[in-house]
Amino acid sequence: MRRAKITGIGHSVPDRVVTNADLEKLMDTSDEWITERSGIKERHHVDESTSASDLAIEASTIALDSAGMNPEDVDLVIFCTISSDYFFPGGAVQIQEKLGMKNIGAFDLRAACSGFVYGLSVADQFIRTGAHDTILLIGAEVQSVALEFDTDHRDMAVLFGDGAGALILQTSDDDSGVLSTHLHSDGKHLQDLWLPAPGSKYKPFMSKKLIDEGLHTPYMNGREVYKNAVTRFPEVIHEALTHNGIALEDVALVIPHQANLRISQAVARRMGIGMDKIYSNIHKYGNTTAASIPIAMSEAFAEGLFKSSDNIILAAFGAGFTWGSAAIRW
Ligand code: ACO
Repeated sequence: MRRAKITGIGHSVPDRVVTNADLEKLMDTSDEWITERSGIKERHHVDESTSASDLAIEASTIALDSAGMNPEDVDLVIFCTISSDYFFPGGAVQIQEKLGMKNIGAFDLRAACSGFVYGLSVADQFIRTGAHDTILLIGAEVQSVALEFDTDHRDMAVLFGDGAGALILQTSDDDSGVLSTHLHSDGKHLQDLWLPAPGSKYKPFMSKKLIDEGLHTPYMNGREVYKNAVTRFPEVIHEALTHNGIALEDVALVIPHQANLRISQAVARRMGIGMDKIYSNIHKYGNTTAASIPIAMSEAFAEGLFKSSDNIILAAFGAGFTWGSAAIRW
């Protein structure tokens, strides 16, 4: 049976570290509040010269090197992001061009914090059907440029960071690789976590009026996100386990989207597992949306938290709301 095996992995974050103490100087917040409410101690923000495609190139180069592959060996690029360099085209074609790939298919996928799991599901289908054999799957975000660092916007400004992670997926005929993916959504929560403008809802789609009304900055109904996330994460993790007949004790590591440490802790409690089984690095990077899972996978693998033949479960929840999971035999 054709499976999508992960043969390469890498991540990249900007050099610039922004600590909670740095944010205290910009708005009415505190290290104590941020740490207690999110678990975040610092995050990385790009400098003037770095964009999402730059971070994606760095992570992709590391992933290709770890797979012992060259860019021209790749036959599809999927770029999961809500913060591409430009409104269109998306970032995938920048990766194709900057890495000197053949004229292969390259497209962006936008599912916010669930983007990487959605992208993994799409890549898995291409490999299972035989349409492609070697896919570069990227999650990359530059969110710092869309945040307002003042007291009025402190609820969001302290949560998000910039970064990129990338996987190389290749056809495998042994029993390792992506075992399953499950995707879900509930559009009634559209306005509970969103960035209203720019968009074709508005005529014109971008204007000073929209900016004056603050529609160009992200809004989150934190409590609604929290309530739904702590329900949907366990649901979709159990869905992956049940589908594959895997018991929780046979899972080496659960790698959730790094939304908020309190969400991960609530999920652990609801599932009756210790935080040793749920990977967390949000204290270092904040919430990097579609980049958070590949960054976490890359670090957890480097730390030796899972090895060949281990089962790992990825799970994500985000704007839409969307949520999803993937079961992988490494
Ligand atoms: N520093 C200090 N005080 C703050 C800050 C801040 N950065 N942000 C908000 N506050 C204040 C508010 O002004 C409010 O003060 P008030 O009661 O005097 O008005 C108080 O903290 C509580 O504000 P709430 O928004 O009601 O805070 P809540 O208790 O809901 O906590 C939080 C906010 C941490 C976001 C919480 O809702 C939460 O954990 N939600 C989960 C959502 C999340 O973390 N999402 C991550 C991104 S989305 C995703 O990845 C799926």
